[in-house]
Amino acid sequence: MFIKEELEKFQKDRPKSKELWQKALEVLPGGISHNIRTFGLHLIGGFPVFIKSSKGAQLKDVDDNEYIDCWNGHFAMILGHNPPEVQKVIKEYLVEGWHFGTNTEYQVKLASTIVKDNLGIEKIRFCVSGTEATMYASRLARAFTKRRLIAKAKLGWHGANDTLSYDIGSIVSGEASPGLLKAEQAGVLTFQINDESTFDLIKENSENLAAIILEPVLGGGGGFPVKIEFLKRLKEDAERYGILLIFDEIITGYRFTDSLFQNKVGVIPDLTTMGKIIGGGMPIGAVGGRKDIIDQSSPGVANQVLIGGGTFSGYPLSMIAGLKTLEILKNSHQDYNRINQEGDSLLNNLNRFFKEIKSQLIAIGYKSMVMIHALSKWIEQPSMRDISLFKDRKREALLQLALFNRNISGLHGLGSISMAHTHENILRIQEVVEEIAQPVSQSKIG
Ligand SMILES: Cc1ncc(COP(=O)(O)O)c(C=O)c1O
Repeated sequence: MFIKEELEKFQKDRPKSKELWQKALEVLPGGISHNIRTFGLHLIGGFPVFIKSSKGAQLKDVDDNEYIDCWNGHFAMILGHNPPEVQKVIKEYLVEGWHFGTNTEYQVKLASTIVKDNLGIEKIRFCVSGTEATMYASRLARAFTKRRLIAKAKLGWHGANDTLSYDIGSIVSGEASPGLLKAEQAGVLTFQINDESTFDLIKENSENLAAIILEPVLGGGGGFPVKIEFLKRLKEDAERYGILLIFDEIITGYRFTDSLFQNKVGVIPDLTTMGKIIGGGMPIGAVGGRKDIIDQSSPGVANQVLIGGGTFSGYPLSMIAGLKTLEILKNSHQDYNRINQEGDSLLNNLNRFFKEIKSQLIAIGYKSMVMIHALSKWIEQPSMRDISLFKDRKREALLQLALFNRNISGLHGLGSISMAHTHENILRIQEVVEEIAQPVSQSKIG
């Protein structure tokens, strides 16, 4: 009943999105240009909304529905949508042209800012996406160590490159996509975060391991924080065996503080991949770290490691938007504290409520990253493995749909809190999730 009513309301309020979706299905596989942008809604007979504008914490769709947005452009929009200061510099620059295919001062400035902010970044190379950055980091590591294997975290999402797209969907069955080599052929091992077995795996393969790559908080994998102790032990093992440690900070960089997360946890890896926030909402990726490793990519060296091309690498508007964003973030300590605290309380309050009503929902995250998983049964304290094993994608889609119906947009349940969210916004999000938790949990979904 709940699902039927929710679907009817969703469709009634969104005729233009529905029409666009039908057209999209004819020309785009699955109707989208990024797999997760169906928001799972197609699984239960819904369709994604089409957005036409944004401002602050708000998105507006083509049917003029407004949403408090928690997806924040795949975690990139930490200042909220369309921040006026960033919009201003983009507009000002646009009149000069926007793509020269050569060097600009802004690329030097953004690189210098990131190097200055972060002890572990001695040099940096810009590209256009995080997918490229993690591929290049792995290549640099293989070239530097002259070893074959890369160990990556199960569920870790590093973009859809051929190098690292293994064990991305489920820690239970880690089948690679058709078209990719099997993990052994591709030289990829996968490990479980926060688990002792990882250190055995590293030891057993120590002579052939070029790199260990992981996000300090698994983002696309569902918001699971990696314990600091685990990160420290990875660093120790990496040093012991001559393996390079790579942190993928494409989400966590500049998310919790005005620099990379590694500075806060006190574990400095050999290489770091960056993206999202550092481009201020424009396309960006970057790989940075130890000079001796990164310098392998310099055109001046013998046996140069190939990084790019990249027609759009160091894209001027990304450099400009990124610089302005980082400048604003430098003066945003109070806002960082505020959104980190809002995230902590939202996570705790939701989980307290879910437990009280024995809901099949669970909130997972770290500070301003807050996600909600839906399971196929109630488990008192589900582990990461339980969450993966009992994940109920249709129930998650129903959660997402019910949120849209109440003017909240999010992905992975919610996503993240931006500096544009007010305390009232967060209270409203909590109120809505609590309102729908029971029916979402109890609905029979075919
Ligand atoms: C941690 C992480 N690494 C890499 C990527 C890939 O970045 P992009 O989508 O810019 O290719 C993402 C994207 O979501 C990510 O979250």
